[in-house]
Amino acid sequence: MNRPDLDIVILAAGKGTRMYSKMPKVLHRIGGRPMLERIIDTAAALKPRTICAVIGHGKDQVLDTVKRDVVWVEQTEQLGTGHAVKTALPHLADTGRTLVLAGDVPLIDAATLAALVDAPGDEVALLTDLPDDPTGYGRIVRDEAGKVTAIVEEKDADPAQKIIKETNTGILVLPNKYLAGWLSRLSNGNAQGEYYLTDLIAMAVSDGIAVRPVQVRASHLAAGINNKVQLAELERIFQAEQAAELLKAGLTLRDPARFDLRGRLKHGQDVVIDVNVVLEGEVELADGVEIGANCVIKNAKIGAGSKIAAFSHLEDCQTGQDTRIGPYARLRPNARLSDGVHIGNFVEVKNATLGEGSKANHLAYIGDATVGRKTNIGAGTIVANYDGVNKHHTVIGDEVRIGSNTVLVAPVTVASRATTGAGSAITQNCPEGKLALARARQTIIEGWVRPEKERK
Ligand code: UD1
Ligand code: CA
Repeated sequence: MNRPDLDIVILAAGKGTRMYSKMPKVLHRIGGRPMLERIIDTAAALKPRTICAVIGHGKDQVLDTVKRDVVWVEQTEQLGTGHAVKTALPHLADTGRTLVLAGDVPLIDAATLAALVDAPGDEVALLTDLPDDPTGYGRIVRDEAGKVTAIVEEKDADPAQKIIKETNTGILVLPNKYLAGWLSRLSNGNAQGEYYLTDLIAMAVSDGIAVRPVQVRASHLAAGINNKVQLAELERIFQAEQAAELLKAGLTLRDPARFDLRGRLKHGQDVVIDVNVVLEGEVELADGVEIGANCVIKNAKIGAGSKIAAFSHLEDCQTGQDTRIGPYARLRPNARLSDGVHIGNFVEVKNATLGEGSKANHLAYIGDATVGRKTNIGAGTIVANYDGVNKHHTVIGDEVRIGSNTVLVAPVTVASRATTGAGSAITQNCPEGKLALARARQTIIEGWVRPEKERK
């Protein structure tokens, strides 16, 4: 549903002092994505007229990281949330409404916002919460009839106000036609010397504009992040929810509390993921894929029936069906394995294609190479792809036997059905079906005597 009379302002100019980080607060990640990016995407789901993001601290870093098409507004001095909205005012229409979001409330969802925004008339709508611990939040002040009359910040609250449990989430909807007037009336005569957006509530009440409080359905949706404790807590909540969704969709997680998805997972049926697996970016696991404990998999597509054993690390790669990978395997960018390929322990594959049924079972490096079908790469094989300046390509054909400890000095071709002897340094092309030996011959030294310790 389009909302052509809705503007959204995201407040993200603050430093996040309590994060103790060189990175602006809104760039810290939840589920692998910067908080601000997450909030912009949620805002975009409402299909508003405009999205303005007010940035200030670390704005270059923000612009480098968050590639989203919004109106970026700079607030050069952080004089308060009211001042921040005022900075965005030139980009807001005179009619309709403005939804204000905080850049440090990352888990807010579109359904909650839609409920806040979709009401007729000129009212102010306010998202409130009843958290277990209200400390630090602005409190919602109500009169005897239960009507909201004001928001008071914790630092300005008197003892009676401090015991109020109902809090301001910082998310509210304001009618645009009053916005400029109200913002111009703000003063910074308060405990923090800031222009508080929250002071608009008392102004609305005194101008006879209704204030409609809406309670958020779960506290974590409106939880703000001011420090690393809150960041870690919210990450666990986010991961638990995500894991529950995946379980419901039929994924087997040996322990949902020891699973992290920092991106998106597409999975088939009967996919099993053991403990402490981290998935990042876009991951696709086809039917019957099994992932062993402690694997890290980023941007990868794994074919049906493949098994990835414990402690393997995969990035920007792709496998066919029924492959066997690991334990302790490393697939680096552009590793492409066809059906039935085996990559064993301490084998590293980078920018290389392995044909159907080929195997490299132990201790090898295969980089910048094309390997055919049913080829066996012996233990200790190294493709020397780099001459110190340029990378070169190696071609290995079908049904080749690369002997243990072979060094293939690229560029070089080993044709189909050729064999290299163990310990060979292959610098020239090997013709089809031939044996290539490139190593010193063994000699037996007759009459040699093992030295013994001199007696004194
Ligand atoms: C704010 C609310 C408080 C609410 C809480 C919910 C005010 C005065 N207080 O307090 O009632 O309970 O959020 O989390 O609004 N920002 C700017 N420019 C500024 C100041 C802040 O862009 O000049 C941004 C910050 O980057 C942040 C957001 O506004 O993303 C909220 O500011 P913050 O200082 O964290 O406000 P709180 O003290 O948490
Ligand atoms: Ca905050």
